[in-house]
Amino acid sequence: MNAINFLLFGLIGLLAGHSSMAADLVRVGDFTLLDQNGVSHQLSWYGDQKAVVILVHANGDPDVRAATLGLNELTEQFRDKDVAFFMLNAIALDNRHSIAKEATEQKINIPILVDEAQLVAESLGITTTAEAIVINPRSMSLVYRGPVKDTNRQYLGEALTALVAGEPVTPIAPSPVSGSAIEFPGRDRDQTQAVSYTRDIVPILQDNCVACHHDGGIGPWSMSSHTMVQGWSKMMQEVVMTQRMPPGQIDPHVGKNFQELAGLSVPEKQMLMHWIEAGASMGPEEKDPLPTMEFNDPEYTLGTPDMIFTVPAQTIPATGILDYRYIPVKLDLDKDIWVRAVEFIPGDRKALHHVIAYLSSPADKTVKGRQNGSARGDSIGGFAPGRQPDSFRDNSGRLISKGSNLLLQMHYTTSGKESVDETKIGLFLHDKPPKYVMAGGVAGQRRFFIPAHAKDHKLEGEQLIERDAYLYDLTPHMHFRGKYMSYTAEYPDGKSEVLLSVPKYNFNWQFSYRLTEPLFLPAGTRLVARGAMDNSDRNPFNPDPSKPVHFGLQTKHEMFFGFTTLRYVGDSPYSTTEVAAN
Ligand code: HEC
Repeated sequence: MNAINFLLFGLIGLLAGHSSMAADLVRVGDFTLLDQNGVSHQLSWYGDQKAVVILVHANGDPDVRAATLGLNELTEQFRDKDVAFFMLNAIALDNRHSIAKEATEQKINIPILVDEAQLVAESLGITTTAEAIVINPRSMSLVYRGPVKDTNRQYLGEALTALVAGEPVTPIAPSPVSGSAIEFPGRDRDQTQAVSYTRDIVPILQDNCVACHHDGGIGPWSMSSHTMVQGWSKMMQEVVMTQRMPPGQIDPHVGKNFQELAGLSVPEKQMLMHWIEAGASMGPEEKDPLPTMEFNDPEYTLGTPDMIFTVPAQTIPATGILDYRYIPVKLDLDKDIWVRAVEFIPGDRKALHHVIAYLSSPADKTVKGRQNGSARGDSIGGFAPGRQPDSFRDNSGRLISKGSNLLLQMHYTTSGKESVDETKIGLFLHDKPPKYVMAGGVAGQRRFFIPAHAKDHKLEGEQLIERDAYLYDLTPHMHFRGKYMSYTAEYPDGKSEVLLSVPKYNFNWQFSYRLTEPLFLPAGTRLVARGAMDNSDRNPFNPDPSKPVHFGLQTKHEMFFGFTTLRYVGDSPYSTTEVAAN
């Protein structure tokens, strides 16, 4: 906004009362928040709607309850008129659980966005409960702020009527909102004690970002100095506000504990965003620690492999969608081996999207079996962006018998220029058979049909745990239309619990979530993966929203697999015959 616009805007603001404004003047940044049920909502996803309404919520607030009645009338009135209704709770003392409880008690069916870090509320200029905000999602601008209504006028209704008719929202001077002031402890803290680059920001980046964003790391840019970070700060703001970075975020309010989980805490997020808002500067007396950070990127993060195999060189064309390639790799083993870890070193990280290494014996005619993507059980590991090497915990491993070979399912994506990929596979072996055998499984669905333009096509698959087992890892896998996935354990005694929820799945990141404590699953437990596909044009990754999609191997088809890594109790390398007899 240049100075003249700014002045003009200020004038209109003054003329029209504290907060109403001429249409489309105030830009709104994109954001993603989870609602009271853990469903992820990104503002820009609603860009095909004519209006997005947000009512500022607080548990137990009488003004909010009164405003909700007005809002409910409007949801009726504007049903099927392309208006998306939300509430937003940014109250520091409320939390996801208490908000969900309040919603149930008050019979609120509208998603309540839980703004724990209060950053969305700050960015929207929210100050009081029961205030209503209208965003024109097509221009990402704020077009109304004020009460839902007062005794004389239906302010919010008028604004919506105008927007739905495609007319500008006329500046009006609404009566003040009757609500309570919201406190912003995080903002107050960061204003009282200005956020310091070296003291506050660098540690956040080091803990959450720099592992990928350094020279030679997998991130596209390097956090190698304050100047770099400052230059990228607006992008950082966007990726943090939309929960795109760090990648692989899960719903922190449900499920088990997982190892190596990326995610900023509420104060970290606040400090980072406030620091960027304030100009992302470094004090004159501060010394920048980033340029002197050392990265010792060993080729194999797990050490020196006992065996290394090189996959025959693959030429990747510049453009187009590539079929999965099935590439045999001869192992020439002279004895059985027990693998304790597998690490893939991609030749060309930009081109290689994923690898799954299946075992095959020379007599195997199972290439076809592999090709329906179902035989996870005899894969020994895989690679995908962001994924840690598969290493089997608790003295467990997987057997590769003499005579077996690998069949690699390799998936490449084109990057605009031709390249050659020569991926390497490092196998780390046990000297003697480990105590336990690791197995793989899948809660998946292979028969489905997703209609064209479907925005939230739900899918479900399950894995029946037939014998007592310990669960180690969960690896959701879908393609471009994958929207979200969760895993629930339904125990034989009738109890159930959510183990993991990935509310905003991204095909570019295929994380394995490793339980901190392996989870005992009694025989008869059903692991249920629930998720949805977004085959609409709201999904920026969707190659073609006008086409229905069914299950298939190609990226243009879809998959719905909740992979699992587990160890069956009783499966022991010493007594395989006994186990087979069970
Ligand atoms: C696991 C590795 C990893 C971590 C951790 C990570 N990034 Fe990234 N980042 C990437 C990769 C790869 C890309 C490019 C592909 C993508 O956007 O998914 C990227 C892209 C970005 C971009 C550019 C987006 C664009 O569209 O150009 C920004 C900004 C960014 N990351 C900031 C951060 C911040 C801030 C953090 C920490 C809070 C972080 N990243 C953590 C790997 C990572």
